[in-house]
Order: sequence, then structure tokens, then C-alpha cells
Amino acid sequence: MPITNEEESALNEHFVNNSYVEGFSLSQADQFLYKKFTSPPSQDLQNLQRWFRHIASFAVENFDFPRCKSSNLAIVSNGIKIPIIMNGTEENGIQNENEDQSITEDIVDPWNVQASSNKGIDYDKLIDRFGSSRIDETVLQRFEKLTGQKPHHFLRRGIFFSHRDITRILNLVEAGKKFFLYTGRGPSSESMHVGHLIPFIMTKWLQDVFDVPLVIQLTDDEKYLWKDLKLDQCNKLAYENAKDIIAVGFDKNKTFIFSDIDFIGGEFYKNVLLVQKHVTFNQVKGIFGFDESSNIGKIMFPAIQAVPSFSSSFPFIFGGKKDIPCLIPCAIDQDPYFRMTRDVAPRLGFQKPALLHSTFFPALQGASSKMSASDENSSIFLTDTANQIKKKINKYAFSGGRDTIEEHREKGGDCEVDVSFMYLQFFLEDDEKLESIRKQYSSGEMLTGELKAELIKILQKMIAEHQERRKAVTADDVKNFMTPRLLNFVVKQ
Ligand code: TYM
Repeated sequence: MPITNEEESALNEHFVNNSYVEGFSLSQADQFLYKKFTSPPSQDLQNLQRWFRHIASFAVENFDFPRCKSSNLAIVSNGIKIPIIMNGTEENGIQNENEDQSITEDIVDPWNVQASSNKGIDYDKLIDRFGSSRIDETVLQRFEKLTGQKPHHFLRRGIFFSHRDITRILNLVEAGKKFFLYTGRGPSSESMHVGHLIPFIMTKWLQDVFDVPLVIQLTDDEKYLWKDLKLDQCNKLAYENAKDIIAVGFDKNKTFIFSDIDFIGGEFYKNVLLVQKHVTFNQVKGIFGFDESSNIGKIMFPAIQAVPSFSSSFPFIFGGKKDIPCLIPCAIDQDPYFRMTRDVAPRLGFQKPALLHSTFFPALQGASSKMSASDENSSIFLTDTANQIKKKINKYAFSGGRDTIEEHREKGGDCEVDVSFMYLQFFLEDDEKLESIRKQYSSGEMLTGELKAELIKILQKMIAEHQERRKAVTADDVKNFMTPRLLNFVVKQ
């Protein structure tokens, strides 16, 4: 039965606080509901429109929607009940959990990260699927030799686990030549979460050890095109997020941060046009899943995320040079943009950017999804107070501990699924202490409460220090970082 006007209004209310039918993850329930629409929802139902457009971008042929968590699902909103999945929905070709059909592949793209198993994303499989390379012992040894220090613990512990062409960058460093770093943020919320810090912390370490310039793109345009946000709001969020990024500690003489809305023009825009002319709709459709109902801004946007990889986009920094190599640290969800970039670059006479990919900082609820700003209870925000951090970890952090103390003492906890232990791997720098916690927890000597207490202490300290540094960022600092200018470095090519 097609959706009625009354049901549309009720759904619009549901999507005020929910991204999908089932809370915060895409599932076959969205596919089922989407199929009930015979035409797009009315323009004034903005939340429903946003959901509809988003699902439309997946509703391409053969897209494998993840299973629903529940059968007999219904949305209850505005006092009416809209059934979504009924037992025996074969006519729609949709399975629910009672049927023995599981998604076979993890979903990892710039908008969705969903593991097919509760153990989390299978990163080895992802390397095979994406065609990237593992950061292995040889790469780590080269880092150590070239920097004269132990590689950052994100590298040592496999948090940054995959790369494209890092060997080319390390060869350049060996030859005394320079490259530049590029990373970014899509400003969709006032507060960033700790997961967003991961690529920025890595980037700062790389800037420090290699003494290289860095460009940071704030894609306020992207967030306007994808989210239910006003243009000015996205632009304002870019400047708010810039303060958090500056607080990570980047070198002000070597770092340029820009908002797409305010900066794009000139040489940068010329490069955008070059990319646009050399990539077809078919190609972006294949890479990103766009379809005929995607707004045209989305279809051209990948060109905008591509061009900061090319040094000629920043003539005031690189004096018009076209061939300064670029290294991009990011989580692996951003890789589709750079597969496209690497594909088109040689055809335009540009160098392919190299990449370092990180795993995802998991949601509090477990490793099957990443920490995401759109689910408040899945995230620790950089604005959280010490008390909020404590409460969230104690209440939500998925535990690998046993049901009773006796059982825990006997069998020990499971570090493989314990979110607090995973977070310690990201933020407890001391290798020996981490190993000792791992042993104590998995032998049952340490209880979940004690493990959580260790994590809470570390996060409270780290976030309080971040908040102090952010408070110290002045309007002049933001202006300085965001003004196109010559950066202080020497390029020997
Ligand atoms: P955004 O704002 O979604 O994410 C910013 C950066 O954080 C990474 N990230 C995570 N890393 C670890 N664990 C998580 N849970 C997690 N969530 C997000 C993202 O991979 C990203 O590196 N389109 C981009 C903005 C962008 C960009 C770039 C990012 C423009 N140019 C170049 C990286 C490199 C975006 O919306 O990122």
C-alpha cells in the first residue's frame, strides 16, 4: 500500500531525530519503506525528503542493504503506526533476521560504515576489495629509519593499517625532497567527536617528523549538499571546527585551512573543472552509488575533494608548481574519493596522491559501526564534560566482560570485542601498560569497572587538555590559519 499524506507527516517527525528507520544504521527496513513511495515526498517535509534522497542514492540495482535487526518493525509517530517489515515479505525480496540470509560484505563508503559481523570491519578483506596495500613491518622500519624515532603508536598498532604509494613518499624523504600533506573535515556538527581526531593526530605527527606543509579542506559545501542544513550554518560550522583542528597543534607557519564555500576560485577552481571534464557520471555512479535522483551538486562534488591533492591548486603556497607530491591521511571511508582522484590524475598530468588509511574509532556500542556524530549516544564529543565522559563510558561502552564476577574471574574478559579496551589502544600511548592491562583483563584479574576507570581517566585528561587548547585559539589565529598565504618551507625537487 502506498504511503498516505498522514503517514508522510508522521515519518517526517520520525526522521527529525533518526537517520534511518532503525535508529542510526541503514537496513533493509529503509529499502522496504522507500519502495512504498510512488513519488518523492512533499517538499515541505524536509526530514523525510533528506532520508528519501539519501536512500535513493543506495537504491541502485543490486545494492546489498544490511539486514534489519528486528522483524515486524513499525514506526510509531504522531500517534499512528506505519508497519515496515512484516513476516514473509518475499514479494518485496527483502529478508529479515529470521531468515538465514546475512550481508556478506562490510559497507564502507564516505556515508556509511556497517560491519557484516559484530567483530567489526574485516580490514584485511577491505584491503583486497579496495586494492590498497597493508602497512607492514618493512614500511614501519622505513619510517623509523627516516625519522629516527619509533613510528607513532597509530602506525605501530595497525590503527593506520593500509596505504597507497607510501613507499614513493618515503623514497622522496630519503632523497631529501619534500611533499605536502592534505586532510579534511566535513563540518556537519558544532562539536567533533574523538574519532574525528584520529586522522588529525596522525597528520600532526607526520607534519612534525617530516617538517612539511599541510592543507586542510573544510567541506562545508559537501555537508550542505548531503545534510538537512542551511548553507550559512555549514559555513559557520566550518569555522567552529577549524578551532578544534587548530587545537590539535598544527604549525601555524606551515598549515593552510580553508572553507570550500569561501575559498574556491582561481587555480583551485580551474583544477576542479579539469577533473569534472575528465570524469563521467557513469564513473561517479559506479564509485559513489549516485543515481538519477541525486542532486547535481553531489555528482560534481568529488572533483572538489580531489583537487587539494594537486599542488597547483595552491599557487600562493607552491608557486604554481604542478608536481609536488601529496600524502593524505584519513580513515578508509574517504578512499572512494581518492580512488577517483588517482584514476584521473595522470590523465591531467598530475601526480597521484599517496594515502595512509586508518581503521575506524568504534561506536560506544561496539565495533560493528564507527563513532558517528549523528548518534549522540555512540560518541564521546570534544565538548563533553568529565562527568559526561564517565557516564557514557560506564553506561554505553560495550563490554567484553562476563555476566558475573565469578565467571569473569574464571574465564576472563574478551579484549577483541571490548570497546573500552579498543579505545585504550587508540589513546594509551604506553605499550607496556597497555599489554599489562590486556593480560590482566583477559585473565580475569581486572574487572570491567576497573578497565573502564582506566579509560575514563585517560579520556577525561585528553579532552580537558583539548578544551584548554581550544579555548586559547583566538579569532586572529583562525583568520591567520585560514588566510591564503606563503607557507614557510623549502621544496627541493
Ligand atoms: P568527516 O568530517 O566525515 O571526517 C573527518 C575525518 O575523520 C575521519 N573519521 C574517522 N576516523 C576514525 N574513526 C571514526 N569513527 C571516524 N569518523 C570520521 C574521516 O575519514 C576523515 O578523515 N569528506 C570529508 C572531508 C574531507 C576529507 C578530505 C577527509 C575533505 N577532504 C581529505 C579526509 C581527507 C568528511 O566529510 O570527513
